Amino acid sequence: RDQNGRERYVTEHEEWEQEQLAKTKAQIVVGERVSEPQYEYVFDEGQQIQWLSDNALKGGMSNMESPEERLLAQQLLAAERKAKTIEEKRKTLPVYQYREQFLSAVADYQVLIIVGETGSGKTTQLPQYLYEGGYCKDGKKVGCTQPRRVAAMSVAARVAEEMGVKLGNEVGYAIRFEDATSDKTNLKYMTDGMLLREFLTEPDLAGYSCLMIDEAHERTLHTDILFGLVKDIARGRPDLKLLISSATLDAQKFSEFFDDAPILNIPGRTYDVEMNYSLQPEANYLSAAITTPMPGDILVFLTGQDEIEQAEQSLQETARKLGSAAPELMICPIYANLPTDLQQRIFEPTPPKVRKTSLTIDNIVYVIDPGYVKENRYTPATNMESLVSVPISRASANQRAGRAGRTGPGKCFRLYTKYAYYNDLPESTTPEIQRTNLNSIVLMLKSLGINDLINFDFMDPPAPDMLIRSLEQLYALGALNDKGELTKMDPMLAKAVLAADKEGCVDEASALFYRPKDKKLQADAARARFTVKEGGDHATYLNIWNQWVDSDFSYRSLTRARDVRDQLVKLCDRVEVTVASCGASNLPPVQKLQKGGDSYRTVKNNLTVHLHPSSKWVIFYELVLTSKEFMRSVMPINPDWLVEGDVEALGTKL
Ligand code: CDP
Ligand code: MG
Repeated sequence: RDQNGRERYVTEHEEWEQEQLAKTKAQIVVGERVSEPQYEYVFDEGQQIQWLSDNALKGGMSNMESPEERLLAQQLLAAERKAKTIEEKRKTLPVYQYREQFLSAVADYQVLIIVGETGSGKTTQLPQYLYEGGYCKDGKKVGCTQPRRVAAMSVAARVAEEMGVKLGNEVGYAIRFEDATSDKTNLKYMTDGMLLREFLTEPDLAGYSCLMIDEAHERTLHTDILFGLVKDIARGRPDLKLLISSATLDAQKFSEFFDDAPILNIPGRTYDVEMNYSLQPEANYLSAAITTPMPGDILVFLTGQDEIEQAEQSLQETARKLGSAAPELMICPIYANLPTDLQQRIFEPTPPKVRKTSLTIDNIVYVIDPGYVKENRYTPATNMESLVSVPISRASANQRAGRAGRTGPGKCFRLYTKYAYYNDLPESTTPEIQRTNLNSIVLMLKSLGINDLINFDFMDPPAPDMLIRSLEQLYALGALNDKGELTKMDPMLAKAVLAADKEGCVDEASALFYRPKDKKLQADAARARFTVKEGGDHATYLNIWNQWVDSDFSYRSLTRARDVRDQLVKLCDRVEVTVASCGASNLPPVQKLQKGGDSYRTVKNNLTVHLHPSSKWVIFYELVLTSKEFMRSVMPINPDWLVEGDVEALGTKL
């Protein structure tokens, strides 16, 4: 019987009918909602599905001769099961038990601290409860911030699926350079940085009825600033509801900061995780991580894209060597820069007998924790920002281990000693605000009219010398005047220099700004000749500049540009913005090199090549300290380019 009590057994005649039906393949129109008595599907854009009746699926599977047809039928069956279980699954999440309590607490208090383990349903469910509880009436939105872009996108996709709507409509997300929201959007997931930007255009965030600052325990720079800002606007907007949600137990601190806001604790549903420690410290934790063998889904925590790619490569090699001796291994890398469609792969269920390694939400049985995380460390005295691998805190070690016990008992392998866990790891992670360059935040707060930064309501204030250093730099850059107020410095210019600093191309960016006022037309006409169609304005400017460099600075008309550029470079130098080159325009065909002695071998064509003596000068963007100090984003340069005055000091001779 189906849900409506209708009998659905199969007679001989019906069986024949079903066979016919099974052969009928209709195409589903994009975005259309297809209703059958029992279930509904919403198809995404671009997805073309051959439609088979449910009877055909259940009764007629064996009649389907072609493997494609059977596969299709299986997929549809899987989709059907999913559609039916989404509602059930929502109800089995730990937060569901607290739905009413949560809604009445939100009604009674303006600020609420939520604590619940990863996977308890905070991120996906609470905004939906608010929506169902009527907080999106009169077009107001519920906003939810995430420290990471991946999370903002994937969670929004999941919630859209749960609500049966198309992503970007009622449920949307916003991350830098990508806004998947519309006028219809009720639930908006976004990075914490995006919400911060919204303060610039809408200082009281009037479009929101509720804001959820999620993953508060991560204490990212942006989240920390948001704490102070939302606390402030909440005073002037009693109708605005604030949720601060965290996966760790240090909620007391959040509560105290938000004037003793009540804490809603969602007890997790966790299973035992057996802890295993290394007997000796691991010299090479990466190799230790991928040679620790075990069955079941495995989650490995590595520090970044390089390491992840390296691990993936060696895992593939190992798997190839083992051949059929070992079960198939499905490797799912995930890191922030990975294209979205590849990221999505980790949310697909693992086929039977296949192992999967990555960060999936469900079904992780084993966690391998090498104990490191890549952190930005900033030293104001030298103005050096370096990305270094540092030991994680005990709090994050416990978070990592917990991932193994979501769906059943699991095991965690810590690639460090028990002694190290208790004696070497810090108790908790230092908030980012206390170890990063504050320039962009100071500019942001100043542009919001917040001038007295020393007295800004920080949960954990940054060290005064960091703030002072930042104010000094911005003053030197001309972005602040001697009263510490924002100057009228063209914000585009300021932004470009700072952004270029971040992207490692101050050199290129500073070549971009010259367009004489009285000769705009000529300048534009001249520029047209250099236009780089795919690259837009900036690539065009850069093209002009580079061609001029190639011609040994021989056109007089551009000498002024050189002066402007040199001045910018000097300014940057004064504030120690490294004049690094990203080499964006004239990049030679990318060659991966294998080093052997003082020669290199190209991986693709197996050519032995040598560094040209003139290339022995390089510009690098950052130093990464792992086992050694590595230069990253390295570009060979012609030392002649360096003879122009101050720039000389910036190159590095190999
Ligand atoms: O925020 P919290 O860690 O408390 O939980 P959540 O992210 O709301 O996840 C609740 C459940 O939703 C997880 O157990 C997953 O099964 C599911 N989920 C998913 O399928 N895909 C996502 N991108 C996120 C969550
Ligand atoms: Mg969450």
